[in-house]
Amino acid sequence: MAGTGDAHLRQGDEILLRVEDLVVEFPAGRKGRVHAVSGVSFDVAEGETLGLVGESGCGKSTTARALIQMPRPTGGSVWYNSQDLATMSAGEMREVRPDLQMIFQDPISSLNPRRKVYEIVSEGLSVWGNKQGAFTEGRVDELIEAVGLDPRVAREKRPHEYSGGQCQRISVARALVLDPRVIICDEPVSALDVSVQAQVLNMLEDMKERYGLTLLFISHDLSVVKNISDRVMVMYLGKICEIGDGDLIFDSPSHPYTNALLGAVPDPDNPYTDTAELLEGELPSPINPPSGCRFHTRCAYAQDVCRTDEPQIQQVSDGDHWVACHFPVQRETETQVEVAEKPAPKAPAAPPADSVDDSAFAALKAHRETNLR
Ligand SMILES: Nc1ncnc2c1ncn2[C@@H]1O[C@H](COP(=O)(O)OP(=O)(O)O)[C@@H](O)[C@H]1O
Ligand code: SF4
Ligand SMILES: [Mg+2]
Repeated sequence: MAGTGDAHLRQGDEILLRVEDLVVEFPAGRKGRVHAVSGVSFDVAEGETLGLVGESGCGKSTTARALIQMPRPTGGSVWYNSQDLATMSAGEMREVRPDLQMIFQDPISSLNPRRKVYEIVSEGLSVWGNKQGAFTEGRVDELIEAVGLDPRVAREKRPHEYSGGQCQRISVARALVLDPRVIICDEPVSALDVSVQAQVLNMLEDMKERYGLTLLFISHDLSVVKNISDRVMVMYLGKICEIGDGDLIFDSPSHPYTNALLGAVPDPDNPYTDTAELLEGELPSPINPPSGCRFHTRCAYAQDVCRTDEPQIQQVSDGDHWVACHFPVQRETETQVEVAEKPAPKAPAAPPADSVDDSAFAALKAHRETNLR
């Protein structure tokens, strides 16, 4: 299956997770297929945070679940510690699973309402086993304290007696009890109040530092991803658009879709609003994705070749910055974008409702200024 290439994959011992040509399809109707993820390749180095961003329905959660083989992907490889998880038996996978933990969007419904919080945090040990014998009761106390909660209260209370932000802290402690190396965070702050989002992001960064974690951080909100990620991967309709160093991508977004997402962030100081063409129309159906570049039906710069030939990932500059576009945007100054040989863009339309959250952007900007790189 034609993917968007793997030129951006890195070599080296520090690569902890390497995904090659991942394909996930679901049956749809009698003969159809949902092409949820189509030939996606990326890697994550130990201790790194890779931010995965894109509109709702672009395949972020499906990619995340395919990493932990839930369900097993239709095609491709998921290399972890030099082993391909996609070809492991269920028994072998059970040995590896504690290393790879997931945190979900809705913290309250992801916790068992009938159990006390302390039991929820420690129950992974009985399900998965205590791989190093290191997690004693005292260590469970330590983890609950580390995420900012009182272990004595956690012994008495159930999840519904905690707020959404506190429940997400409980989810993090529950994931940490298995001493994981990788945590996949699927929209972990999207369901939280804006005022709480920054606190939970800070807590996640603290836990990453303290326990030497590697993070895959998923969000539809660019401002959240920008704050927390070392590298960023932008997805559209099951494909990678742009991937690389977060600073390079946010300083100089090269894919028209990344530019459109950034331009849609409603912030008075947004440097992209004058230059990025806003998104038109809806995300096409993944049952019958557009030919060539899947973004061509919404791209203000699409030309004939975009409708027939799928763009392969290519390096944008000397740095760690890669884009899958026949006509990458070249941002020459902070306020001027030049697109070689492109027709004048069509008039912009309103962005999709869930592409950005302006209040979150403001709060997280303040958070970035005070806390993060
Ligand atoms: N189990 C499933 N069966 C059929 N279609 C699915 C299933 N899971 C996800 N999809 C579809 O795959 C696409 C990608 O979904 P998802 O990965 O959840 O996107 P995101 O997390 O980016 O919002 C969507 O069109 C979604 O409807
Ligand atoms: S210019 Fe062409 S290849 Fe690039 S994003 Fe637009 S449609 Fe895709
Ligand atoms: Mg999702």
